[in-house]
Amino acid sequence: MFETLQKATLDKIFVLMAEYAADPRTNKIDLGVGVYKDPQNNTPIMTAVKKAEQRILDTAKTKTYKGVVGNKEFSQAIVDLTLGGTVDAARIRCVNGNGGTGALMNLLFVLGRARPKGRIFISDPTWPNHIPLAENANLTVSSYPYFDAATRKVDFDAMMRVIDSLGSDDIVLLHGCCHNPTGANLTHEQWDIVVASLKRTGAFPLVDLAYLGFGDGIDEDAYGTRKVASELPECMIAFSASKNFGLYRERAGVSIAIAKDSATADIVSSQMQNVIRGTISQTPDHGAEVVRVILEDKELRAEWAAELKGMRERMKRLRVKLADAIRRKSNSKDFDFIAEHSGMFSLLGLPGDVVQKLKTEDGVYMINDSRINVAGIPEDRVDELADYLLRAAG
Ligand SMILES: Cc1ncc(COP(=O)(O)O)c(C=O)c1O
Repeated sequence: MFETLQKATLDKIFVLMAEYAADPRTNKIDLGVGVYKDPQNNTPIMTAVKKAEQRILDTAKTKTYKGVVGNKEFSQAIVDLTLGGTVDAARIRCVNGNGGTGALMNLLFVLGRARPKGRIFISDPTWPNHIPLAENANLTVSSYPYFDAATRKVDFDAMMRVIDSLGSDDIVLLHGCCHNPTGANLTHEQWDIVVASLKRTGAFPLVDLAYLGFGDGIDEDAYGTRKVASELPECMIAFSASKNFGLYRERAGVSIAIAKDSATADIVSSQMQNVIRGTISQTPDHGAEVVRVILEDKELRAEWAAELKGMRERMKRLRVKLADAIRRKSNSKDFDFIAEHSGMFSLLGLPGDVVQKLKTEDGVYMINDSRINVAGIPEDRVDELADYLLRAAG
């Protein structure tokens, strides 16, 4: 049987993680893996999560199946958090996903059924997993320009040239906030322009919201998603609770579909449920239940929001410190973009051989496209890191 198979390539991030783990240098720096890190370089369990888990442990009476749509109260809490009441509930339907990836998968599969081999436009660059996810859903992947390598800002004119040219059968995948990998994000005014364009062309938006609260705040980060959802007749949103609740391995996510009316929403819901049944049958519930408990409890919710704020502010501080150190040492503003980007990542724009050199000579690990995870910047070694980056960048 297996002789027909060829070795599949693993996502480079897993190779990098293994290399980092095997590196015996004690001063190595991990800017690679896309998880939040605290000052001790750990990815902690949030206090509100620990408390919610204890509550669930003390009170849960069953582990029986939850049903194909998953944890409805979790979905509702995420809809409220994400949309803030901007859309009529009669038009919204949800199923849970296996994390944000599973949430995307459900939605993309439904879109692949709605438009077999239809075109989906994805930002260039993007989170690499978007591409196989869309291809596996029977969609045809195209891209729109997104990043200006010279300014390290969004190349909005180039992006809009493609977005404006789309037709009503096309799908466009938008990062809701905290773009991965670039860290460059649309301003509110640019979101308004994108939504006006989609309104004109009828192209269908799918918003990937994996980092809500990691940029400037929940409401600020939700601006684009709310604009899309409240102004367009139809859209989909894939929500991940992996980062903002630190629930990575628990796989908590929500697939949100918004249709033009309630009857259409029912059809979309039946399709989403059909996808779940025919793929994983039931979604994981532990993380979903943790999020539900937190969001439905005033105190836990406040505690979570404060902790998330602390994480967000730490990442902002690290950005500013690194950008300041580089400016001080080089007398140039070339790396100021690190402080201007938001979310967990910045794309430095270094060539692959320079990224390799940083790894082999200095023990500084980042993805080969030069994406760094700012949460991995060691706060007490910012000057040293600035030296490495400046030397590498020549
Ligand atoms: C842009 C983007 N979307 C979706 C996800 C999905 O995350 P998860 O499946 O772990 O919830 C990630 C995770 O890295 C991401 O960066």
